[in-house]
Amino acid sequence: MSIWIILAALIILIGAAAWYLLITTEGVYLGRRVVIFLYDLYASRYDRIKRFEAVWESERLGQPLLQVLEEIDQPLILDVAVGTARLPIALLRENAFRGYVIGLDFSRKMLAQAAHNLTSERGAQRVALIHQTAEALPFPDETFDGVTCLEALEFMPRPLQVVGELVRVLRPGGVLLISNRKGTGARLMPGKTLSTERLLTLLEHDFGLSDVRKAIWQVDYEQVWAFKPGLLDPALDIAPAAAPLAERLVCPRCGKVGFTPSYACRACGGTLPTGTDGVVEYHQG
Ligand SMILES: C[S@@+](CC[C@H](N)C(=O)[O-])C[C@H]1O[C@@H](n2cnc3c(N)ncnc32)[C@H](O)[C@@H]1O
Repeated sequence: MSIWIILAALIILIGAAAWYLLITTEGVYLGRRVVIFLYDLYASRYDRIKRFEAVWESERLGQPLLQVLEEIDQPLILDVAVGTARLPIALLRENAFRGYVIGLDFSRKMLAQAAHNLTSERGAQRVALIHQTAEALPFPDETFDGVTCLEALEFMPRPLQVVGELVRVLRPGGVLLISNRKGTGARLMPGKTLSTERLLTLLEHDFGLSDVRKAIWQVDYEQVWAFKPGLLDPALDIAPAAAPLAERLVCPRCGKVGFTPSYACRACGGTLPTGTDGVVEYHQG
């Protein structure tokens, strides 16, 4: 075999491996840094690639979430891996939604795009964005009426640790909405995805959630809904909170909860920087 044939075969092999590792599986086998680097790279093109349809987003996200939270006048929702603000936008576009959304993501560029997308949405002041990893949510236990994480768990190094975090910050009676990758997309990521049946069993038995069920969603994802046992207490409604994110953040310096609206810790005075786009820089450096 000539050297040229071997060389060509090698180039094809390396190209295919790079395609699989960087495009097909979005860097998941190369670690969190690479995943986030790729999302930073694609942030400005993400919405064009995904082409979310407003009617579908309302039917499958906005309306069902509002329905399960109808007892709470102004629910507080945490969207982990908020991306370009798909979930906050779906909620803001529901006229009946009077609550607040905190969107957390580790890609700064996705957050910048989210902030940009929100500028044209009515009620955008009821969404706050924070730059932080999903593995360590900077909130006390039992803080949120609803916690969501869509199209993201399979890209995280330890998805079940993140599920534990999502459940930890959920109030008793609160709703968890996550997605589970299925079909070819899931089969191409061995070791990174679970069957939906296995996930439902884990949520019920290992995480102690109730009313666990799946719902049809997209070609490559199913939705998984679950509830934390207990009853949502409308008396704990967040309505009086002027700045829901600041009020509920745990200070990375002293560990106490509560910042002023300009993000100075009420206990130790430490401050968190905020970007010109309003994103709170919890992760610094
Ligand atoms: C496919 S996008 C989904 C975005 C949004 N949830 C949606 O449905 O459009 C995945 C998001 O997960 C974020 N992400 C991945 N790993 C993360 C981590 N460890 N912590 C926080 N965000 C992460 C990425 O930055 C990206 O914005």
